[in-house]
Amino acid sequence: MKSYLKLDPWKIIEEGFHPELNRVSESIFSIGNGRIGQRANFEERYTGQTLQGNYVGGIYYPDRTRVGWWKNGYPEYFAKVLNAPNWIGIDIDIDGVQLDLAEWKVEKFRRVLHMREGYLERSFTVSKETGLKLNVNVQRIISLKRHETGAVRYSVLVEKGSGRFTFAPYIDADVLNEDANYGEKFWREVVRKKDESHPAGGYIVAATKKTDFHVGTAYVFQVSKNGVPVGEQAAFIEREQYVGHRVAVKADAGDRLELCKYAGIASSLNHEKKDVGPAAAAAAEAAAAAGFPGLLEEQAESWRERWRQADIVIEGDEAAQQGIRFNIFQLYQTYTGDDERLNIGPKGFTGEKYGGSTYWDTEAYCLPFYLATAPAEAGRKLLLYRYRHLPKAIENAARLGFTGGAALYPMVTMNGEECHNEWEITFEEIHRNGAIAFAIYYYCLYTGDYRYLADYGLEVLIGISRFWVQRVHWSEPRGRYVMHGVTGPNEYENNVNNNWYTNTLAVWCLKYSREVLSYVKKEAPEDFHKIRTRIGFDETVETKKWQHVIDNMYLPFDEERRIFLQQDGYLEKEQKTVAELDPSERPLNQHWSWDRILRSVFIKQADVLQGIFLFESQYDTDTIRRNFDFYEARTVHESSLSPCIHSILASRIGDIPRAYELYLRTSRLDLDDYNNEAAEGCHITSMAGTWMSVVMGFGGMRVRDDMQFRGGTLHLNPILPAAWTSFSFRIRFRNNTIRVTVDTESVMLENESGPVLPLMVYGKKESLPENGHLELSREH
Ligand code: BGC
Repeated sequence: MKSYLKLDPWKIIEEGFHPELNRVSESIFSIGNGRIGQRANFEERYTGQTLQGNYVGGIYYPDRTRVGWWKNGYPEYFAKVLNAPNWIGIDIDIDGVQLDLAEWKVEKFRRVLHMREGYLERSFTVSKETGLKLNVNVQRIISLKRHETGAVRYSVLVEKGSGRFTFAPYIDADVLNEDANYGEKFWREVVRKKDESHPAGGYIVAATKKTDFHVGTAYVFQVSKNGVPVGEQAAFIEREQYVGHRVAVKADAGDRLELCKYAGIASSLNHEKKDVGPAAAAAAEAAAAAGFPGLLEEQAESWRERWRQADIVIEGDEAAQQGIRFNIFQLYQTYTGDDERLNIGPKGFTGEKYGGSTYWDTEAYCLPFYLATAPAEAGRKLLLYRYRHLPKAIENAARLGFTGGAALYPMVTMNGEECHNEWEITFEEIHRNGAIAFAIYYYCLYTGDYRYLADYGLEVLIGISRFWVQRVHWSEPRGRYVMHGVTGPNEYENNVNNNWYTNTLAVWCLKYSREVLSYVKKEAPEDFHKIRTRIGFDETVETKKWQHVIDNMYLPFDEERRIFLQQDGYLEKEQKTVAELDPSERPLNQHWSWDRILRSVFIKQADVLQGIFLFESQYDTDTIRRNFDFYEARTVHESSLSPCIHSILASRIGDIPRAYELYLRTSRLDLDDYNNEAAEGCHITSMAGTWMSVVMGFGGMRVRDDMQFRGGTLHLNPILPAAWTSFSFRIRFRNNTIRVTVDTESVMLENESGPVLPLMVYGKKESLPENGHLELSREH
């Protein structure tokens, strides 16, 4: 755990220069607007430790698979959202000496992520033996409002000495991915151009090899000295994959030089290929016309609106407050919910790991966050993304030998095709199919948009059900269906038989598909007929098999402890608990051999508890407690997706101290770098889990399915951690927006918009009046 960042409710602050942690800071201070994003790399040249990362959502490269031993069924490639042309670069040279924080004496350094207003700021004082001393302040934004715009204001105050400053703002398309499988470069230049319509600008159009996406990256810039524009004689410089300008200004002590660089980033996802260069240039010029202060103001306004919907206020605990805001901020920097071709990579735009691709994380973790904090279309878009990939999921299953329209969604994907290539995950971590079905269920329940089922949902559910009935087999000795050779969410064990979570999810999918089938047949018979014909669905034969599996599936259970068993044989392992581990050996994945991890009892992430979380209403509190106590004691939480689920369940069983401790772990996972891996990027998808641990955990929010296919009821069951004096959150639920505030005495519900809302609080029926509020005593 590292705690080098300062606490503040609205800011992330790094005080002092930490070159050894620069990669960590680059991840944490990342900025983005849901379409483009980047790590907090320096604008000026830096020869110290850095991972350059600048990403354009949806623009990927199929990097040829690299594995030790090829297995039939492996995908040919791993799709990566690649490091894109660098638009922030500004080389600074003073009398022939490059400004480089690795080479200069850094006297002061401060990096701030302004979450309320949505920009990044860096200030530092540096000096050189030559007697030169500079105070530098740099601000950078990626505009939420202007989807294709970024801007930098680079300001240098000469504190001591004087010199001839040469600024070289540039675009560099000669960039690499550190994780390139074969060290290949992924971009080729299409056009490089001086922008004639503006005195100081230019652009490059680069195309990805193989996928041929085109990205135009343009810049214009302005330099001033003490507020007066300079640099009419800026020289254009160009070479292969590089365009820039060079402008020289003489400055003495007391002078302030400022360079504003405005960038446009336009891709062939949104423009004709031939237009991406001009479109990028137009975006850069429009940004320049707005000016940096104007862009900052717009940005603050956009973020004000986001925060109005999504903020969570925690009183009395700055670490917790900062943690949740950081999580919400990063989520909305990654995905804003208005482009159904985009999704939420586990690291968002903050690093290369996971390639910016889509995982089950989206459905299992992110959907509830977007449903409650964004318009319902955002959640719907996440679902449609998978609907559009259904044909590929069917192809994927067929490649593995499944037939008749069975669908296996990929573990990792960009365009619907599987990218993952470790057999124990690609072929075995099939529970992801269940998360996709569950997301359909939850979306409909939450929004009341049951029409979705006839339009899209049913087809996906049939595909998934067809998969499950083929993936199980009948075991003569057990006289039950079993499922062999799977990996549950706990990736610290592979190729297990009868993972309780997967088996339970499979049965649930089959049952739910049956219910949806009857519903669509009744409510939308014509649609049902069309679907049946289109996908060749033999209802009688297929549902008979589904029902047989539902009635006869084996679900491992330990009678003695009265717990669900993670998988066959789990109790035969040497039983130890996390408390017995030597702290210096953690995280295990950085200290133990893989062999030792696989044979140990230790669990990477919620597995049985993931299932209890999803289907919680089926279990009583004692059952949840028994399973929680048993599995929490064995879980090392080395997946970011884990502590949030445990925190929610700890809240559910009333173990508030434990819930709080796990909450801090999830919300400050990257800020305090619990798992020693923030350098690779932030854990974006689990940040939605953090949100869940407040709203569903401490807030006890659930939507219960008590009126089948007529919309669920909102339940709240708030508790308050001892460290907090109050907390409040806002959720959209159907036509209502409600604000919930919990303090030491009471629970206040405010109906900010929408009609009278019947709901359940602490298990009692209540009614929240239109435009009104409801104040109740806090019960726990
Ligand atoms: C977890 C998976 C998750 C992936 C991406 C892995 O470490 O075990 O469950 O999907 O990270 O977040």
